[in-house]
Amino acid sequence: MHLPVAALVALFPLLATASSPPGSGTRIPLGKRSKITNDDGTANIAEVRRQIEYSAAKMRNGFSAYERNMKMKHPLDTSSDLAEDLNPLKRSIGSAALVDDGHTLWYGQISVGTPAQTYTVDFDTGSSDLFLPGPDCTVNCAGHKAYDPHRSSTSSDTGKTFQLTYGDGSMVQGEQYNDTAAIAGLTARDQRVGAANTYSTGFAKDRFPPDGLMGMGYKSISAYNADPVFTTLVQQGQTNASVFTFTLQKTGSELFLGGTDNSKYRGDITYAPVTVQGYWQVQMDNVEVNGAEVLNATTAIIDTGTTLVVGDVPHVLELCAAIPGGLPLPVGLDTVFCTVRCTAIPEVALTFGGKSFVISPETFNLGQIAQGVNQCLGGIVGAAVASRFWIVGDVFLQNTYTVFDMGNNQVGFATLA
Ligand SMILES: *[C@@H]1O[C@H](CO)[C@@H](O)[C@H](O)[C@H]1NC(C)=O
Ligand SMILES: *[C@@H]1O[C@H](CO)[C@@H](O)[C@H](O)[C@H]1NC(C)=O
Ligand SMILES: *[C@@H]1O[C@H](CO)[C@@H](O)[C@H](O)[C@H]1NC(C)=O
Repeated sequence: MHLPVAALVALFPLLATASSPPGSGTRIPLGKRSKITNDDGTANIAEVRRQIEYSAAKMRNGFSAYERNMKMKHPLDTSSDLAEDLNPLKRSIGSAALVDDGHTLWYGQISVGTPAQTYTVDFDTGSSDLFLPGPDCTVNCAGHKAYDPHRSSTSSDTGKTFQLTYGDGSMVQGEQYNDTAAIAGLTARDQRVGAANTYSTGFAKDRFPPDGLMGMGYKSISAYNADPVFTTLVQQGQTNASVFTFTLQKTGSELFLGGTDNSKYRGDITYAPVTVQGYWQVQMDNVEVNGAEVLNATTAIIDTGTTLVVGDVPHVLELCAAIPGGLPLPVGLDTVFCTVRCTAIPEVALTFGGKSFVISPETFNLGQIAQGVNQCLGGIVGAAVASRFWIVGDVFLQNTYTVFDMGNNQVGFATLA
């Protein structure tokens, strides 16, 4: 049997004793915070809307970075296909300005600077930049640990600024530095780090417990147009394999760098090639409901920084119609939810690389739409931002072991151990 290099080097951890750190990969335990389902079992509809808006804003940031960096529009970016003022969907996105951003987070520790200071960051495969609050940040930064480049002997000021806009129009903006960043003992020198002097409302401590965010996409969607941390680690020989993986579960969640963690999955890994190197963008072959194919192939962005699965509105309406007891629930002009009977949560599956992976009813169900009602909010929602693609986030990713293989430009999925 031919094993790709990434899988081969990952066999080494199994030879080591179970308790010792793996020889050819590095584990970073992840914490999770989500408040999408209220304690009484109802769905937090306002939070779901914020999360959709956050994902949409993030995609728009990536698309505009791609256009600046690559001198061409991202193939999935439909933003100026219609004149701005004639496009009702575009307008309604603007009017969602009253909705601020928020999201489920998978976060862990990194260190930055010399002497090294530790920070918690949200590991986000749907963006490509590392940023932390800078020492002068007074907008939404209270309670977060600040990165002060002037106290780091390895920092250098690149003289460049950055700006990321989120759903409510508020921004994360600041100055770009180079500094040493380390993650689980792997060191990236001259890593681009944003020191923010303003955080958007969604990054305030009560909404966003980690200090900052570490993007894990490709350089082409970097607002800095600089190598993301993982790319730097690979280029500087810090990892044996240009692969990282996520296990997102209630307990034992981890980011694994430099190979695959064989203790976390069973069976084969099924791969889908990355079609545009920006986001982790692959073809999704189809969508199934209770074993029957209901939607044809579309493009999917695999994003650990998105809570839900966000599809295009027509497809999500079609999907919802195919679910027994499914009822669409339009929200504003640009969003549609799919509600299902709480007593008959469907088994929805997404197919990648020819293999279908089921979203467990438990992760699909976001909770009752109101107390005492037998209709529950489904974890797949339709939104205008996803006009030509789906954003596949945690609602799906909690059900698979997910491999981000930068060396071979592919995303792999396997059954959790
Ligand atoms: C790379 O693999 C070798 C051999 O298994 C191991 O000794 C070394 O620690 C690994 N390096 C990293 C950075 O994982
Ligand atoms: C920052 O790092 C990049 C990439 O290593 C390098 O090209 C650039 O010259 C550095 N800039 C400064 C100001 O150190
Ligand atoms: C998918 O596409 C094939 C070929 O175009 C078509 O026959 C089939 O009906 C489509 N399935 C769905 C669920 O749209």
